[in-house]
Amino acid sequence: MHSTNAADLLAQIRVHGAVPRHVAIIMDGNGRWARERRMPRPFGHRSGMRSVREVVEGAVEAGVEFLSLFAFSQENWQRPPTEITALMSLLEEYVAREADELHERGVRVRALGALERLTPDASAAVDRVVRQTAGNDRLTLNLFISYSARAELVRAARLLAVEAAAGRIDPATIDEAEFSARLYTADCPDPDLLIRTSGEQRLSNFLLWQLAYAELYLSPVLWPDFTRTELFGAIRDFQLRERRFGRVPA
Ligand code: FPP
Repeated sequence: MHSTNAADLLAQIRVHGAVPRHVAIIMDGNGRWARERRMPRPFGHRSGMRSVREVVEGAVEAGVEFLSLFAFSQENWQRPPTEITALMSLLEEYVAREADELHERGVRVRALGALERLTPDASAAVDRVVRQTAGNDRLTLNLFISYSARAELVRAARLLAVEAAAGRIDPATIDEAEFSARLYTADCPDPDLLIRTSGEQRLSNFLLWQLAYAELYLSPVLWPDFTRTELFGAIRDFQLRERRFGRVPA
């Protein structure tokens, strides 16, 4: 039976022992959450920041090693300018407000994506927290910002092509490991568990290569209502599944 209590779920997670090393999350539903309250969309994103805090704390408590959050996609640049401005300033605010605590909790923050498109202020804030927390090793928090999986794959192909053209790599030796090594996630294991909130059932151009064998957990909960209890529920669900990686049961 599933408990609905965070402490019970955490105890069950610990008894089982096999915690997903890497959890990836598509944080969806901020806009609908705001609309339900007749509030503007940025209000939903602001409320979504609380859930970011919840899942970071929950991931540390459960012993997850890598947490990847899809904070802003390259496609999101097509949203109305007011919403983009709001998201950029929320990112700055999140970093400014949480940096010291993230550091104290042993979280290493990294930003992955086409970061050159960020506003100078957002970019400086992100750089600061990345540098401040670079030596931590309890949890790696990957913030995917201005990210598109297809663009990441094209970038990896281009990097390999440049190296091949310069004679630094033999095309015949290019294998999955060489390709993975040119992705933003070069030094991360692939996600074991992908969570998407708000009832949508899409990958939306997130980590297309890395999610090849991830278990999917689709939650109907809108992102601002996603708490550590929801995260622990997803991890418990993961623990009860059998992963086969294309093989037959043992
Ligand atoms: C999707 O909801 C969410 C986003 C596009 C942004 C996610 C950002 C945050 C949770 C806040 C800041 C994050 C960090 C890491 C500081 P949506 O707007 O697509 O919702 P809808 O589908 O209901 O419209």
